[in-house]
Amino acid sequence: MAITSSTIAVPEIPAVPRHIAIVMDGNGRWAKQRFLPRFAGHRRGVENVRSTVRACAENGVEFLTLFAFSSENWRRPVEEVSFIMQLFRGALKREVARLHENGIRFRAIGDLARFDPELQRLIAEAEALTRDNTRLTLTVAANYGGRWDIMHAVARMLKEQPQLAAGFAEADLLPYLSLAYAPEPDLFIRTGGEQRISNFLLWQLAYTELYFTDTLWPDFDVAALQLAIASYQKRQRRFGRTGDQVEGAAGASALRAASGSG
Ligand code: IPE
Ligand code: IPE
Ligand code: MG
Repeated sequence: MAITSSTIAVPEIPAVPRHIAIVMDGNGRWAKQRFLPRFAGHRRGVENVRSTVRACAENGVEFLTLFAFSSENWRRPVEEVSFIMQLFRGALKREVARLHENGIRFRAIGDLARFDPELQRLIAEAEALTRDNTRLTLTVAANYGGRWDIMHAVARMLKEQPQLAAGFAEADLLPYLSLAYAPEPDLFIRTGGEQRISNFLLWQLAYTELYFTDTLWPDFDVAALQLAIASYQKRQRRFGRTGDQVEGAAGASALRAASGSG
């Protein structure tokens, strides 16, 4: 796919988001509300991923990117971190065959080198098995940080093309960002009530529609996802233009479609 950038050209505006990015927050509070240990919330959170992936595929969403573990989440108690790692390993072992049967391509982004070798191997195997699937690309962001992504991209670019140290353009950098294979997210969802990005896709969210809900991640069901998509569909995405320009452009493309000239 050609790499597109919302700050280089106005992108296509799809009726159903092509790319949804989710900060899956609120597992700990979900558990606390039930007088359960935080672990129980993480376990329910992982279970909720399956129905979200299915619902996105059924709605025609092409890319789903989930924030599973941030580069700052290492600051948590060591038992919680190791439980989350154990959940990743379990989920990969259990779910990858099913993802593959359903035509889903699996990708992981983030600084994976910090993970234990078994987890790195499971991720590599899942990516290799599913690499040619086309129905939906499920990207899991693990040990991911938006700043890391940009720094890492610049470093890789300069290593491969040292002459660019004298000066480079946005288009030079784009192929090195970790989501270079996906269009920028159309819709960002954060569950759990906080209204912040928490170092998720800093570069890629430049023109993404943001949606925040108090619903905790384990409770974020298909109906809740539909509400988020409905909210997206009510927005006018202007990308710097005026509302009149946007309506004019929409009218012109409807006319072209009606006259069959594409
Ligand atoms: C998100 O849920 C999951 C991860 C960060 C791994 P939290 O664990 O942050 O849940 P809260 O915010 O404490 O409720
Ligand atoms: C963001 O959630 C990271 C993930 C969901 C993986 P956090 O719960 O870690 O975010 P902060 O620390 O409250 O901003
Ligand atoms: Mg949280």
